Amino acid sequence: MENQDLIQRGAWGSKVAFVFAASGSAIGLGNIWRFPMVVGQNGGALFVLVYILAVALIGFSVMLAELVIGRYTKKNPAGAFKFIKPGSLWKLIGYFGILTAMCILSYYTVIAGWSAGYLVKTATGSFKTGMTSELSDKLFTEFSADPLQTILFFLVMITITTFIVSKGIKGGIERWTKILMPILFILIIYLAIRALMLPGAKQGITFYLKPDFSLLSGKLVLFALGQAFFSLSLGMGIMVTYGSYISKSDNLVSSAGWVCFFDTLIAFFAGIIIFPTLFAIPGIAPTAGPGLVFKVLPLIFSKIPGGALFGTLFFLLFSIAALTSTISLLEVPVAYFVDERSWSRYKAAILVGLFVFCLGIPSALSSGGMAFFTKIDFMGKMDFIFLSLFLPIGALLICVFLGYVWGMKNATQEVLSGNPLFKLRALWSFSIKFLSPIAILIILYFIKTISE
Ligand code: TRP
Repeated sequence: MENQDLIQRGAWGSKVAFVFAASGSAIGLGNIWRFPMVVGQNGGALFVLVYILAVALIGFSVMLAELVIGRYTKKNPAGAFKFIKPGSLWKLIGYFGILTAMCILSYYTVIAGWSAGYLVKTATGSFKTGMTSELSDKLFTEFSADPLQTILFFLVMITITTFIVSKGIKGGIERWTKILMPILFILIIYLAIRALMLPGAKQGITFYLKPDFSLLSGKLVLFALGQAFFSLSLGMGIMVTYGSYISKSDNLVSSAGWVCFFDTLIAFFAGIIIFPTLFAIPGIAPTAGPGLVFKVLPLIFSKIPGGALFGTLFFLLFSIAALTSTISLLEVPVAYFVDERSWSRYKAAILVGLFVFCLGIPSALSSGGMAFFTKIDFMGKMDFIFLSLFLPIGALLICVFLGYVWGMKNATQEVLSGNPLFKLRALWSFSIKFLSPIAILIILYFIKTISE
């Protein structure tokens, strides 16, 4: 996003360039690690259905809202709200986003570290053929409870992230990810097909795709909505920044639509890998939580020809996908300190990186590394507060700002540039003014019962 060329030219090279870059931010651990985890914890197919509805009816509208604010103001989030409503408190949405970004980054990078650890394990042959679910479960439990390994890999990932952000060399990284991410996509489809071919896969598909409506609950809807915002990189203004580089002649509606589509597609296929495998090789519960994909993936790699190679490649690309997201998360606070507090990029990256590392240590120790943090489930708490609560609150504020402060008329005007027909206009207005804020408010109202 802070690609030097972009700043100088002030625009993406093309609409495709935007869709690629925004999909790069959106696709990450959220799709491959977290989506199957929350599907498993919330009973399967019904969650998938509610999730898709949340993306289509709310996530897409909020993404369009953020892009519109960005393209209209041509500014970063804090600056954008100041520009539209000078002297008001709306700029706080920007600060809120900075806090949320740092807190999410602190445990997100711990998981990215798990992926790096698994890369080393697969590459050095820890997951040989003959892997059973008991063994895979044991390997993950031992790995995630080892303070030395988890903190070490966490340190590696936060150091790489800090280094890249401090040098501002994201341009090169983005060129690489343009090649690597399509490879990851092909690999995911291949693994999904292999998973479907496992004997006993059908039960997994039933769990994943046949909804049981009796499972509907406030908790399920909250988690689906939080996951949608998280996976689409919404609720903290990242898409405002991305939008600020979009050309006036581009169609914002279809751009947002493509990003939502790609992001959901990857998450969907990740589920097709995990659930058929999980039911075909029983022993791991769908409710396994943060360890779910790390326990299930070694099973499929042990079942297919060339599994060790595929496993290594998968965890390599998975780690890179995670890194592109940690970079975009660290960029939020760093850009703030550079632009608004005149820190050097170097100083901002090092100090924020260090802060995030300290903040992440309890999360790294909360999967068995230290009894206290494990008992209070520190990582789970961080995830609940910042992802399931703060992202929806951020999205709510953006809807209210657009719908009632800046006004849908002005916002629609901005969309019309590049999309003179804008057929979804009435639907979008309805979603931003009523559907999305009311849905988020209802969910926040029930939060007390949910967190108990
Ligand atoms: N969407 C990314 C994922 O799915 C995570 C992410 C990157 C993010 N940047 C963000 C989430 C900004 C919210 C806001 O892994």
